[in-house]
Amino acid sequence: MQIDKNDKIYVAGHRGLVGSAIVRSLKRQGYNNIIGRTHKELDLKDQAQVREFFEKERPDVVVLAAAKVGGINANNQAPADFAYENMQIQCNVIKDCHDFKVKKLLFLGSSCIYPKMAPQPIPENALLTGLLEPTNEGYAIAKISGLLMCRYFKRQYGDNFISCMPTNLYGPYDNYELQGSHVLPAMIRKFHEAKLNGAPSVELWGTGTPLREFLYVDDMADACVFLLENYDGEEHVNIGTGKEVTIKELAELVKQTVGFEGEIIWNKDMPDGTPRKLCDVSKLNSLGFKAKVDLPEGIKLAYEWFKENVSQARGM
Ligand SMILES: NC(=O)c1ccc[n+]([C@@H]2O[C@H](COP(=O)([O-])OP(=O)(O)OC[C@H]3O[C@@H](n4cnc5c(N)ncnc54)[C@H](OP(=O)(O)O)[C@@H]3O)[C@@H](O)[C@H]2O)c1
Repeated sequence: MQIDKNDKIYVAGHRGLVGSAIVRSLKRQGYNNIIGRTHKELDLKDQAQVREFFEKERPDVVVLAAAKVGGINANNQAPADFAYENMQIQCNVIKDCHDFKVKKLLFLGSSCIYPKMAPQPIPENALLTGLLEPTNEGYAIAKISGLLMCRYFKRQYGDNFISCMPTNLYGPYDNYELQGSHVLPAMIRKFHEAKLNGAPSVELWGTGTPLREFLYVDDMADACVFLLENYDGEEHVNIGTGKEVTIKELAELVKQTVGFEGEIIWNKDMPDGTPRKLCDVSKLNSLGFKAKVDLPEGIKLAYEWFKENVSQARGM
């Protein structure tokens, strides 16, 4: 069944980095019946609340972009919370999508679902072929179970539940809280504040040697809408650029964009995480989608948004 411009689309997590970009993309593409609830209005961990919401709203399409999300440090410190909260959220939402006959569900995974030593670039079928990176194993286990649950509901009941696996994202409405945020927003904030304060140096975590891929969030959102419209397969789809940089190269790019002229000090006591993580995006490309915004342009856009919204940006 195709999705329709008038379908009621519930974007769970519509104020987050991913959810807000998906709402922007849906609107750009003419979808005009989009609903959302803040965490305060609807706690997706609460099964009864979720059921009541589905009973009342009866969405046609659901995008599950609500999750407890954090960087390497937050994940390392609270594996139980990351596993429990995410499993709870996705169990409640996926089951109600089934019970209330939602015609399409898009579930969002994350690249930490792949084994630590997966072949690079990582193809979709590397899932469950090896041990996970220990620092975010709790989160990864939750995401893997959500992704497989979508697969099983499709297989057993014929539900049109699909999932995708976006690489590291950045852009408007990111989280800038220093202890819990991802690497790119943390760098933007650190360099920005160091520049304002005239600090001689900025400390960054790890050795700077890991290789990572970064995707501008609006490109990811366009890919999600593209998949909602064009993909019904059982296997998840990687969403990325297929290009990688070292964390050191990334730091230099952010430093230049922000205009910070001091020194970078690498705190090697902090963990690096997986040495390399690049998605194989040939499946997405062969379906007909390619990311448009390159990294220097995306960092410029993200920094412009940050400067304009610094007082109300999350985590500030
Ligand atoms: N960021 C990335 O680089 C990245 C990469 C790949 C995949 N993803 C995936 O994309 C999804 C969203 O990530 P994000 O980066 O957009 O995170 P985010 O900015 O932190 O947004 C998460 C959203 O989920 C909501 N939420 C969390 N717990 C909730 C609960 N119990 N009930 C209701 N709402 C709740 C949050 O609401 P509050 O703010 O009100 O708590 C927030 O709006 C996740 O599944 C993540 O795995 C993200």
